[in-house]
Amino acid sequence: MIEVSERYRPLFHYTPARNWMNDPNGLVQIGAVTHLFYQYNPLGNHHGGISWGHATSTDLLHWQEQAVALPEREHQIFSGSAAVDWHNTSGFGSGGPPVVACYTGHRHGHEAQFLAYSQDQGQTWQFGGDAPVLDLGKADFRDPKIFWHPESGRWIMAVVHPDERQVELYGSADLHRWEPLSVFGPAGETGGIWEVPELFPLTDASGQTCWLLKVDLNPGGLYGGSGAQYWLGQFDGQTFTPATPARWVDHGKDFYAALAISDLPGRRVWIAWMSNWDYAHEVPTTPWRGSMTLPRELGVVQGEEGPVLTQRPVPELRTLRRHAQHLNREGIYPLAGQAHELLLRWERGTGRRLTLEFRSGVGTELTVEVGEHSVSVQRPDTATTRHLQGYAGRHTAPLPPEPGTLDLHLFLDSSSVELFAADGRVCLTDLLFPSAPLQEVCLQTQGLTLLGAELWNLSP
Ligand code: FRU
Repeated sequence: MIEVSERYRPLFHYTPARNWMNDPNGLVQIGAVTHLFYQYNPLGNHHGGISWGHATSTDLLHWQEQAVALPEREHQIFSGSAAVDWHNTSGFGSGGPPVVACYTGHRHGHEAQFLAYSQDQGQTWQFGGDAPVLDLGKADFRDPKIFWHPESGRWIMAVVHPDERQVELYGSADLHRWEPLSVFGPAGETGGIWEVPELFPLTDASGQTCWLLKVDLNPGGLYGGSGAQYWLGQFDGQTFTPATPARWVDHGKDFYAALAISDLPGRRVWIAWMSNWDYAHEVPTTPWRGSMTLPRELGVVQGEEGPVLTQRPVPELRTLRRHAQHLNREGIYPLAGQAHELLLRWERGTGRRLTLEFRSGVGTELTVEVGEHSVSVQRPDTATTRHLQGYAGRHTAPLPPEPGTLDLHLFLDSSSVELFAADGRVCLTDLLFPSAPLQEVCLQTQGLTLLGAELWNLSP
């Protein structure tokens, strides 16, 4: 019997044992170990006393919580990033290359960028002195993402001016002295403040590279509250020039503040905070509050509407597959355990719909519907979630127009659903708090012929 308080504890998404968590921070790969830092309140289940919590993993799925890396001091330790300083440009090294973090020090009425570093491969951390490295004397100026740009032989920082809806880029040879390079925005969605920028290159199958700029906004998200938007374009070491309009990164309600793992060889993977500022403080979990999304491998493909971002669940997830069932026809299939993966493929045809209804002993807890042009997820209004502003409802994502095979890949954990469709071109992430554990899924195909349909019970 699962304790009631642990009922919504995810099996394969990171949550801290206790207390509040929001954005991922300082994601960095050091040897075989991935380090995840995050906005964390060591003392309570609400946003406050923000420090950098810390967890590590060797497979991106099983995380071990570590001691708090950067505790609150005269300022709270707001969001930021980390990277290995291979050439010790910062001078923080002692023996091997240091790992350097750049974060926002937040006090009431003042935000500036500070450094911290680790000389033992990310295990323990020191503050890089008391002085900020970038301070404009502003109240809101935050979330530095730093990375080494080999072509110009310097560090780049992307940092936001939330109220102005602008991302500013800075350059530095040593991480200490920063010079302004360019300003992007306002652009795209501007119905809320901008937060947590990301900027990195992605290479498509033909070897062409383009750059992705992501920035979150709150409110003004697709279904209210927070959301994330991106552009693809070029970055010449100075300026980011978009080649696409702004697009939503995810069509659900619970994907925010994504950050990619620095120094991860051979692939680009990001993780986001799986919540929404609309109701983050009220989600019915205790003694923790806040969960990360699955790690997603990123790519770019050429679509009818130009380059498009793709996000796929990392292949490591296949190691969690246990019992498999083939869903070869319409019907009701039992759901064993607390976590599930579902993979469906079919040939696109006209006017066909596919419906999946996930039910508990109480009723339908989640409906997924795929039509010809869109896919949607519907969260019902239940007693457990009635107090969450804007929780109930339907979240819809358009499907790309190209004909051919369509795939739907779903991951269900104890309190979330993540949907990937059309080879990762469409993503939809939602928290889900069923009134009782899911027991079965009802599949309706309405005459559509499935090319493949498998359901796995997942277990760590
Ligand atoms: C985004 C954010 C950041 C800020 C941090 C504070 O969710 O508001 O802009 O640095 O969270 O915890």
